[in-house]
Amino acid sequence: MDSVQLDRINKAFEDHFGVLPRVTSFAPGRVNLIGGHTDYNDGFVLPGAIDKGVFVAFGLAQNQSVAVAIDTEHQPFTFDLAQELTSANEHWHRFVIGAVQVLRSKGHDIVPFNLVFGGNLPQGGGVSSSAALENSLVVGINALFNLGLSKKDMIFIAQQIEHDFVGVKCGIMDQYASMFGESGKVIHLDCRSLDARSISLPLKGYQLMLFNTKVKHQLSDAAYNDRRNACQTVAQMAGVKSLRDLSMSALDGMKQQIGQDKYEKAKYIVEEIQRTGEAVKAIDQGDLKTFGRLMFEAHEGLRSSYQVSCAELDFFIDLAQTDSDVIGARMMGGGFGGCTINIVKAEAVQRVAKEFSERYFQQFGIQCDIQKVILSDGAQLVKTSPE
Ligand code: GLA
Repeated sequence: MDSVQLDRINKAFEDHFGVLPRVTSFAPGRVNLIGGHTDYNDGFVLPGAIDKGVFVAFGLAQNQSVAVAIDTEHQPFTFDLAQELTSANEHWHRFVIGAVQVLRSKGHDIVPFNLVFGGNLPQGGGVSSSAALENSLVVGINALFNLGLSKKDMIFIAQQIEHDFVGVKCGIMDQYASMFGESGKVIHLDCRSLDARSISLPLKGYQLMLFNTKVKHQLSDAAYNDRRNACQTVAQMAGVKSLRDLSMSALDGMKQQIGQDKYEKAKYIVEEIQRTGEAVKAIDQGDLKTFGRLMFEAHEGLRSSYQVSCAELDFFIDLAQTDSDVIGARMMGGGFGGCTINIVKAEAVQRVAKEFSERYFQQFGIQCDIQKVILSDGAQLVKTSPE
């Protein structure tokens, strides 16, 4: 965790409210190596928390609550505890209002409070800045008011904020990884049972890297919800709880009935759940090359069948496939922009970063952002000042 960021948030709180915060929380973003869009189909994923995230500093307020977002031009937001969302609310207000409303709806007693938040996670970069903010808010409010929530309670509350207030019907992967991540490890998570195993990657001589396209195409949230609906419809028509329970032969048998488009999407999910199992087997056998090949296959499915990629993401993947120092890569997160995750030979990292960013700039006129991934611990409470 970044102590410079922590000091920055605490200082901003003190500057704004004239007292030190009582509680400061941190929740990280995440990467996901394989298992794209499988979480809301009760499938398996392989995410890990990263070393960047969202800090929120909290203190009690007298009358009205105030929220301050320090990394934006936005005005402080004064809110009422019973506040409902209106069209006048800015996007980031949804998280704050959502956190208060979801907790109150569960019977938790909350009195006015102030908060300041900020961090070092790129927004819209496919590294779960939303889940990091949700988790950080819930972890902090839980501590501020001694609500006694477990980590598991908190991830479902965070997910409900995303569903009901942000409007994306996400799965549980992002909130889980941001809460339960472990330094140096990824988590093999069963999104149905929440059974999980932390795994060290056999990276020997390789490095995980993020290539951020710096684009996020419009309608990505609507497209995400569409995909989720399509999956649910196929599962219902097949008479199963979710696509995890559907075999490829049963799906093939429904092709006429569901039509080509839904068939392609469901096929990707059934294959990806299977592929994630194979990928974890490869890691357990120390076979990073096979793991990387499966990442490329996963991307192909996301591009051609599930159709959540875009030209900018595909550009990086196509380049990666022709570079022998990149042994695996795929787009990450909901899609339509954000990052690709790559396994790159350690000694080639600088050359790859330089070449890829130059080629990307030539093609799109956009300066991309390339960073190493540092797998890190999940959400935590970082400071509680005395009364
Ligand atoms: C977004 C969602 C997750 C998951 C990924 C795709 O990050 O929030 O729940 O569905 O997309 O794997």
